[in-house]
Amino acid sequence: MKHTKVKDLLNSTTTLQEVNAKGWVRTFRNNQFIALNDGSTINNIQCVVDFENTPEETLKRITTGASVSVFGTLVESKGAGQKYEIQVTKLEILGDSDAEKFPMQPKKHSLEFLRENAHLRVRTNAFGAIMRVRSVLSYAVHSYFQQKGFVYVNTPIITGADAEGAGEMFQVTSLPLDNLPKNEEGNIDFKKDFFGKHTNLTVSGQLEGETFAMALGQIYTFGPTFRAENSNTSRHLAEFWMIEPEVAFNDLDDNMDLAEDFIQYVIKYALDNCKDDLAFLEGRLLEEEKSKPQAERSEMALLEKLNFVLENNFKRVSYTEAIDILRDSTPNKKKKFQYLINEWGADLQSEHERFLVEKHFKCPVILYDYPANIKAFYMRLNDNTEPGRETVRAMDILFPGIGEIVGGSEREERYDVLVEKMEKLGIDKEELYWYLDTRRFGSATHAGFGLGFERLVLFVTGMTNIRDVIPFPRTPGSAEF
Ligand code: 4AD
Ligand code: MG
Repeated sequence: MKHTKVKDLLNSTTTLQEVNAKGWVRTFRNNQFIALNDGSTINNIQCVVDFENTPEETLKRITTGASVSVFGTLVESKGAGQKYEIQVTKLEILGDSDAEKFPMQPKKHSLEFLRENAHLRVRTNAFGAIMRVRSVLSYAVHSYFQQKGFVYVNTPIITGADAEGAGEMFQVTSLPLDNLPKNEEGNIDFKKDFFGKHTNLTVSGQLEGETFAMALGQIYTFGPTFRAENSNTSRHLAEFWMIEPEVAFNDLDDNMDLAEDFIQYVIKYALDNCKDDLAFLEGRLLEEEKSKPQAERSEMALLEKLNFVLENNFKRVSYTEAIDILRDSTPNKKKKFQYLINEWGADLQSEHERFLVEKHFKCPVILYDYPANIKAFYMRLNDNTEPGRETVRAMDILFPGIGEIVGGSEREERYDVLVEKMEKLGIDKEELYWYLDTRRFGSATHAGFGLGFERLVLFVTGMTNIRDVIPFPRTPGSAEF
């Protein structure tokens, strides 16, 4: 007899059938009631053990974490909270779990403790829910772009290019670290490397993606990216997943339209397809909120917040307008933003971004037309800007509770302007000859953006630390296995 998933058992339309379920024991109460979870849903199925006719030895082995196979009849449950339960006729212990040693006890563990047990935390309700939502969201990403005819491109993980020009790269070498060959100047001679050149883990697939967009029209990437920035915050990972669409003939406005439509689609998809998990996560958050002082509690519950994003257009504001708003704002009595930003041209700090989104506009915001010198080299320079006040067609999307979730731009499609910019910033043209070829042969207006997948998962699950929405977080000082 093939076992049935708990999710299907709970959604069954008929009772009194002989069924087999396999899963892990969450709890075992009164020597009689097993709460069995198999990961197919947040919900456990209750299995009622006939303890009088079950050997004492077996009963002792039904412990939290143990894997079991239960056979029995699916009946309507008399207990509250569940529609069906299994009246067990036969039970097999598949794998014991020593109750004394199993770290995931049936109690609330701190998120810090769970992070230290990343391989086991997925056995908790919260992490099971988060990881299912993450999976559904990644399916939604593909579904959105595939429906629109975008081509999925796998850009390289090992690359010579520093796409962002920010120098935050993990170096890759095939040479033995204890015996790196040196050149005459005493520097590591990467020419002797397997790759024959200096390579690193990709920070973004954008530049390679652009070469494909200039042939296939609309493409997207969805893969791991790496940043060797030493940012120990709740929003940064050293390894994160990024979605990067790139579209030929799109300008900045088209890019904003695409990003907004895409984000709304994936959030709607999660709302429609993760109902139980999101309801559980919302309940968990509401519990947490109760322990906070009134003033710190969020105004909206999770589902309300997600629906709000679907129902409201993102507010589009230029950097210059944003600076004016910040300059005139007094976020609290003690501190004025004008002390923090006194000059046009400064980059926004996360507290500015959060003020704009959470206090001023109270909705997602798309900031565009940033000063040229705080953004990457490949962004399209705006025409007709004042000397000293040059702006680029950049856009960042800011989300409540998250800050920047998307960074993108229309690209500099003019060969001469791009070359001049690269020269000014000291970016090696020979290294990026292949990128410049897109501008030499059949260049065209094009635009794209990068969505940080974990930041999206953070928003949708209502979690607050990015380490809790990726299976095995890599952050400075943590990469256990
Ligand atoms: O703003 P970023 O650096 O933009 C790019 O990489 C562009 N090449 C994207 C493009 O236009 N194709 O990164 C894009 C997004 C950010 O908005 C943020 O959501 C996420 O990637 N991100 C990170 N997420 C987690 N940890 C980090 N260290 C991140 N750095 C960026
Ligand atoms: Mg950015």
